[in-house]
Amino acid sequence: MKLTNRLLKIASLVSEGKKVADIGTDHGYIPVYLLNKGKVSFAILADVNKGPLENAKKEVRHNKLLDKVDLRLGSGIEVLEKGEVDEVIIAGMGGILISELLEAKTEVAHSVDKLILQPMQAQKELRKYLLNNGYEILNEVLVKEDFRIYEIIETKYTGENTVVEDEIYFEVGSRLIENKDSLLGEFIDKKIFMYNSIIKKLEGKNGEAIEEKRKENKRLINKLEKLK
Ligand SMILES: C[S@@+](CC[C@H](N)C(=O)[O-])C[C@H]1O[C@@H](n2cnc3c(N)ncnc32)[C@H](O)[C@@H]1O
Repeated sequence: MKLTNRLLKIASLVSEGKKVADIGTDHGYIPVYLLNKGKVSFAILADVNKGPLENAKKEVRHNKLLDKVDLRLGSGIEVLEKGEVDEVIIAGMGGILISELLEAKTEVAHSVDKLILQPMQAQKELRKYLLNNGYEILNEVLVKEDFRIYEIIETKYTGENTVVEDEIYFEVGSRLIENKDSLLGEFIDKKIFMYNSIIKKLEGKNGEAIEEKRKENKRLINKLEKLK
C-alpha cells in the first residue's frame, strides 16, 4: 500500500504516540500506515457505511494489526466517547458535513487535543464555522496531488471565537499566509482563475444583479492579488 501525497500529508500531522480516530476511514490507509510506522499505538477506524468499514477491516487484517484497532460503524464522532482518543482525523468529506459532524457530538469535538480536517469542498464555510464556534486554527497546510490542491486544517477547541479582519481569510486561511506555504501562490492563482471565468461567463449579460456579481468577483480578485 502506497499512500498518496494527500494521505501522507494528513498522516504527517498526527502527533507521535497519541491515540487517533479516523472518521470516514474508507480504506483505512491512514491509520494502517501510522500503526505500521509505529507513530501511533492504537487507532479507532470508523465509517458510516458497512462496505468501507469492511474494506478497512481487510486492510487491518492484511497488515496483522487487528489487536491495535477498534472498528466502529456509525456517523461521525458519535462513535467516540470523550477521552478515548487524543486526535481525530476527518478527511475527504465536504466542509459543511465536517462541521455538522463536529456539532453532533461537541463533548468529543471540544475535548480532543487536535482535529485534523481535510475538506474537499466548502473549505470557506468550514473555516467560518470553526472560527465562529470557539475553535482555534492551529495550522494549515496545502498539498498537491495530480492537478488539485487540497487544504488541511489543524484545529482545537479553546472556547474563544476568532474575529477575522476580512472575509477573504475564510477563503485563504491566514495560517497559510503566515507560514508562506510553498503552494500558496499557485492556490491563489487557481482562485483568481476561477473568479475570472465567472466574470467571462457574465460577458454580454446585463442587469443590476449581474453587475453586482461582476463587481463582487472583481473585488475578490483584487483582494486575492494582494495576498500573493
Ligand atoms: C471520499 S471517502 C474519504 C476516505 C478517506 N478519509 C480519505 O480521505 O481518503 C469518504 C468516506 O466517508 C464516509 N462517510 C460519509 N459520511 C460519513 C459520516 N457521516 N460518518 C462517517 N463516515 C462517513 C464514506 O462512507 C466514505 O467511506
